[in-house]
Amino acid sequence: MDESIFISKNFIPKEGRVVCESPSNIALIKYWGKYGLQFPINPSLSFTLSNCKTKTSLEYSPRLEGQGRFDFLYDGKIKKTFENKIEEFFERISPFCPYLENLFLKINSKNTFPHSSGIASSASAFCSLAFCIVSIEKRYSERMTEQFFFNKVSFIARLGSGSGSRSVSGPLMIWGENEFHSGSSNYFAVNYRHKIHQIFKNYQNTVLIIDDRIKISSSSDGHKKMTKHPFINDRKNQAKNNLKIILDAISMGDLQVFIKVVEEEAMTLHSLMMSSQPPTVLIKSKTLEVIELLKNFREKENVPICFTLDAGPNVHLLYPEKYKQEVIRFIKQKLVYYCQNHLFINDNVGLGTKLLDFKLI
Ligand code: PMV
Repeated sequence: MDESIFISKNFIPKEGRVVCESPSNIALIKYWGKYGLQFPINPSLSFTLSNCKTKTSLEYSPRLEGQGRFDFLYDGKIKKTFENKIEEFFERISPFCPYLENLFLKINSKNTFPHSSGIASSASAFCSLAFCIVSIEKRYSERMTEQFFFNKVSFIARLGSGSGSRSVSGPLMIWGENEFHSGSSNYFAVNYRHKIHQIFKNYQNTVLIIDDRIKISSSSDGHKKMTKHPFINDRKNQAKNNLKIILDAISMGDLQVFIKVVEEEAMTLHSLMMSSQPPTVLIKSKTLEVIELLKNFREKENVPICFTLDAGPNVHLLYPEKYKQEVIRFIKQKLVYYCQNHLFINDNVGLGTKLLDFKLI
């Protein structure tokens, strides 16, 4: 593919305001390691979530001489700590969205999940910002198809957060070129188009907040360390094989295989971190204790539940909707004591980013 297809014509938009909402996502096959400008070293697969989301409002107006590019507010208040990351994002996307040079943007973002819950919000934050930006472009590009719009949102979101490319749509998204899904790409994520067995409909994801502190090492550093990792080639092969196996399991409704692959991916992610130079350990002893209890519960009660992990200590539980009551009871009886402030968040699979409002002022 030639990424120049995403270079927009230049134009001078009038003033307006666009509001949208993007959910977070949870990877089943993990993206870990990147090259070039946010290209993944292996394909990944994720469930898009519903409740954990970022709402972004973007007000745009002609940029005055000497004026900066943007103001960033979190929940109505200026937030300086995010400015460098957003500035870098604008540097990366400006060749593809030249009209941004003519605009001043007032960005106001807010997460629906607790601010210090330890849940990574960069995926939903960058996807919602990308969706707002490309929505402006869509107004001025009469012939832009829905498919192109979604591809470009995902492409732009990727330049802010790799995993953010997968939050544009749902319920299952694939990012990274692979031979098992035609149309898959390193540039943007696509909807998984083949059969999804009924058992995965409205699949549940409960996040146990083991530790809500900011991570000691960013995922960006972790991705970079993969380029010189001694196991990089084995990891690429493993991710590819696991993708094939899990896609078959998802279409057949084979929960045993699904569970095996999801947990292997979570453990591999953290093993790769621990075996990188210098090593990073993000899980806590409580993470391992919860995993042990979960496995006992699965065996004893015959509930097809599994765990996965992001680049942090919190445990994501994944299970079919029909077991929800039983699982919540188990969490309240056994797991909640391992959670910081007894906090856990219930979520389920969803369909991706939504436009909430668009007004020309
Ligand atoms: O998108 P980033 O750079 O925050 O990386 C996310 C990496 C993992 O969450 C660990 C895995 C994934 O595929 O989402």
